[in-house]
Amino acid sequence: MEVLEILREASKKIYENVKDIAGTDDAAGDFGVGAGGDISRNIDIIAEKTVLDYLKEINFECVVLGEECGRVELSDKSKGFVIMDAIDGSANAVRGVPFFCSSLAFATEDKLSSITDGVITNLSNGDMYWASKNKGAFFNNNQIKVHRKDPIYKIVGINTSGASIQLMNKLHPIFEKHNHTRHFGANALEMALFARGLMDIFIDLRDKIRIQDIAAGYVIVKEAGGILLDSDLKPLDADLSYETRVSFIAAANQEILDEIISQMKK
Ligand code: IPD
Ligand code: CA
Repeated sequence: MEVLEILREASKKIYENVKDIAGTDDAAGDFGVGAGGDISRNIDIIAEKTVLDYLKEINFECVVLGEECGRVELSDKSKGFVIMDAIDGSANAVRGVPFFCSSLAFATEDKLSSITDGVITNLSNGDMYWASKNKGAFFNNNQIKVHRKDPIYKIVGINTSGASIQLMNKLHPIFEKHNHTRHFGANALEMALFARGLMDIFIDLRDKIRIQDIAAGYVIVKEAGGILLDSDLKPLDADLSYETRVSFIAAANQEILDEIISQMKK
């Protein structure tokens, strides 16, 4: 079975197992702080267990890097890393806001740039986004590309959750100049929407994002033709450690990238 198929299957199983509990009391149960540093909720635990059980069942020889469960070595002859954010947008999932997803990626080495496959499933409706390196990005079987044409409404995605006053000051001119800024609360799904051409740029400069939140988005955005940079405007890359936190800019083209960068305060 191809790695992509394994991730797609695992993702479908998450959807089946959590779709009826989002927004219910069952979703919220507190399991203490997970490996990624946030409280693990019952819905996170159910989703991660779904993936771990499935990978064990098919004897997939890998090391899992889960946001809640941490590093789980499923074999000593590992083929690579499954980078798992089984529920991205946990707060939305617990409250029942229909914007949360699963994010599963496979990397052959300890770095983002070695990711070969990624799958993001919108867990409020089962829509699936996926990509494999050099094979394009897809949304429910249709190939997707970032938005190339001049849009009717320019949509600027900016993650501002918990942003510092310094960052808000830096970004302020963007909010003033653009009437359609957006932030939905699940970075992976926002990257998928961007890759599908529904946003023209998506920025997260808070230095808070974990590898698990962006691993699948990384390959989907790149395969959809997006420009993906770090906060120094270098190609985004990072190691897969639990300490790593990144900032990034995903832009549909050079023009919007230049425009947004020029608007940020130095
Ligand atoms: C969160 C989401 C959210 C971002 C947070 C992340 P989680 O992931 O991606 O959009 O603002 O920084 O922690 O915790 O729900 O997996
Ligand atoms: Ca999560």
